[in-house]
This record gives sequence, structure tokens and C-alpha cells, in this order.
Amino acid sequence: MIIRGVKRVEGQITLPGDKSISHRAAMMAAIAEGTSRITNYSSSADCGATLSCLEKLGVRIRRSGENVVVDGVGARGLSPPSRDLDCANSGTTMRLLSGILAGHGFISTLTGDASLSRRPMQRIIEPLAMMGTQIASHDGHAPLRIAGKPQLRAIDYELLTASAQVKSCILLAGLKAKGKTRVIENEVTRDHTERMLRWFDVALETGKPAGEPEQACFAAVTGPAKLSARDVSVPGDISSAAFFIAAAALLPESSLEIARIGLNPTRVAFLDQLQRMGFAISATNQRDESNEPVGNLQVGGRRTERQDGGGQLRIDGRVIPQLIDELPLLAVVGSQIEGGLEIRDATELRVKESDRIAATRAGLRAMGCEVEEFPDGLRVGGPTQLRGAQINPHGDHRIAMSFAIAGLMAKGETEIADAECVAVSFPGFFELLASVAL
Ligand code: S3P
Repeated sequence: MIIRGVKRVEGQITLPGDKSISHRAAMMAAIAEGTSRITNYSSSADCGATLSCLEKLGVRIRRSGENVVVDGVGARGLSPPSRDLDCANSGTTMRLLSGILAGHGFISTLTGDASLSRRPMQRIIEPLAMMGTQIASHDGHAPLRIAGKPQLRAIDYELLTASAQVKSCILLAGLKAKGKTRVIENEVTRDHTERMLRWFDVALETGKPAGEPEQACFAAVTGPAKLSARDVSVPGDISSAAFFIAAAALLPESSLEIARIGLNPTRVAFLDQLQRMGFAISATNQRDESNEPVGNLQVGGRRTERQDGGGQLRIDGRVIPQLIDELPLLAVVGSQIEGGLEIRDATELRVKESDRIAATRAGLRAMGCEVEEFPDGLRVGGPTQLRGAQINPHGDHRIAMSFAIAGLMAKGETEIADAECVAVSFPGFFELLASVAL
């Protein structure tokens, strides 16, 4: 894909359904009692992988574009798959489905593509083993062979890594455990599983654990628990919108409106950072749909002075899990602002769909930006006049899209190799970008 510099972005857009919420809606609908209708289901390849795995487990699914009807099989109704469950590139599919399969008395094998097969799975194998499931792996990596048990042991588990996927895996397994399964996190991660469990009528508890640091919180389910079918209307994906928001913020005289976008407080830290940099972003018509906050966003207009006196910006600590998927894009934004940007405490970026620290460093350097790499992040010099370059996204959708945005700011042409990898989360990305970039 060739990207050339533009002056502004302008228009009104809607984004495909949120990927994280779509996975959860499909999985919970599958194990609920009754039929659920999901509207605005994510068009991503990742969420397609979740549906095809569920079908292999005997769930009847009818899909027509963004509308998905799932006939739930109930808490014990999944059937042993006759073939491997291919999770493709999707970590969420593999980790959340493992939690569900842990509590079913049959054997299944979860596989993934080369990238997913490199990603760490010990983080779910360990708690699921404590709950009584046996999982054979390739040294902590996929393929995972899960020998589930119809009833599991409830556990009290403190997350070692801030990960919504691991938290969700344990809570989903907890539905099949006798007693209370509690997950404690020291850094808040996205809470879509908690919200969706409640939406499907599970009495989920949340709170602050006694004797833990002030920021710690827990979510707990008491099993065995049943889910009742519910219709879900999925909001637009804020992580996909982020690319358009960054472009509208950075290109002066832009004006962009985004309708019906997910504004869950555990996902909007990216917007907070842009506002902190002085970019104009406002939300209207905020409401809840299917137990998730939704609203419209307006981006563009005059940039105000930074409130914190200027200098290099730093993003680190507890906010990192809440903007983890937007960090490569924030690095691109950092290259355009006075003083640049430093990102730390983000070692997790190394085990995403690619090593996102290395891929971001390589891309920004190729475009003429000064970048220093650390084990847990990077420092980006700014403001930099980027120049067009050839970018290798390493098959990683978010790297490809981040550098498409960098290309809009650059002098000359930027060529993104293997650009079709954007379909992992956002098949129509380039078409939508072309329709608003002027
Ligand atoms: C996700 C959680 C995050 C995020 C991923 C989606 C989810 O991963 O990076 O894109 O849907 O729960 P981790 O939980 O591994 O940090």
C-alpha cells in the first residue's frame, strides 16, 4: 500500500464493531441458554476465528454481515471438536476459549498461526492447571491440548502480568468451578468480560481486596453459574478509531466526527493522552448500550497549550495496560509533538502480534526520526519532519495502520509491505482512510 502526505482529514465516519467486545459476546452467547442476536459484530479476521472455533464446538451460528445469531448450547452443551480449533492470529480467541474449554470434559487442541504460536501461554496454563485442567503445550506455547474437566476447583488468583485476556480466561473457567473464583489485578485492565458476564445475567462481584495495594481490584464469579441469552449491540472499536483520531488531531484544519464509538473508561486512556498534549477531542451523546459506554466523538480544531509546561512527555506505569494497543500509534504521534515522547513499563509490547517496540523503532527510524529503544519502551524525538520510507509491519495489523498514519504526515511516499494484514482487526481500513484524507 502506498501512502502519500495529506493536508487534513474531514468527514463523518463509523467504525466496525469492537473486537474485544465481539469476541466476548460470541463466546458468552455460545454457552448461554437461548438465542442471542449480536449486531455490529466485528468484521475482523480475529472475530471470524472465534465464530469458526465455536461452530467446530457444535454451536449453531448464522452470520449475515455484521449481524450474528447464536443458538446458545448452555453451560454443558459444547461438543468435542473433530478437528483442531484454529485461532489464527487471535490471542483473545485462544486465551478466552481456553478458559471455557477448561470446564468441559473433553479434549480439544487449539492452534494458531506462526505469530500466535510464539506468544506466551504459560500465563493461562498455570491458573487453569491450579483449577484442575491439564494442558499440554509446546514449552508454554501453542498448540495447546486441553483436557478439560466438567467441574473445576475455584481459585483465588493474583495476576502476575496485567492482562485482560488472562483475567477473562480465569473468570470464564470460574463459571464451571464450585465456589468463588477471584482474580486480583494490581493494574486495571479492560473490563469487557465483567460487563458482558453481568449482561448475560451472571452475578459478578467486583471490589477492592483487603490488604492489597490501594490500586488493586478484584472480579469474582461463583460457580457453577449459568448464562441467559441476551442481545448485544457492539459499539464501534475505539482502538480502530484511534488511527483516524490521531490523523485528525495531528493534521491542522481537520474535522472528524465519529458516531457510536465505544467509550469504556478502561479503553479511553489514548484520548486522555491526546487531550493532555492539547489536541481538541470532545464526546457527546454519551450513553450505555448492552452495558458498555458509547458516544460520539468530535476531533479537530485548535490545539490548546499543554497544561504541564511542555518538555518531553512520558507515558508509563498504571496507564500502560489501558492504552496497550495504541502505543505504536502514540509513538508516531510523539514524533510530531514538541519535545517528543517517552514510553516505559511496556515490556508486554514485545509479545504482541509482533515485537511492537522493535517494529516501531525500525519504522520510525526508516522515516528519519530519532528513536532510542529500551527493554520496556522507547523514546521518540519530536517534532520530526518524517520522510516516506518502506515499512515492514511484520504481519502486525497495528504496526501497518500506525505507519499508514505516519505516512500521511510524511514528505514523499510511504510503502507498507504486506498491508493486507490490517484485516486481522480492520479489513476496510485503507478504503475508509482514503475517503476522509484530503
Ligand atoms: C485484549 C487484551 C489485550 C489487548 C488485546 C485484546 C482483550 O491483551 O492487547 O488486543 O480483548 O482482552 P492482553 O490482555 O494480553 O494485554
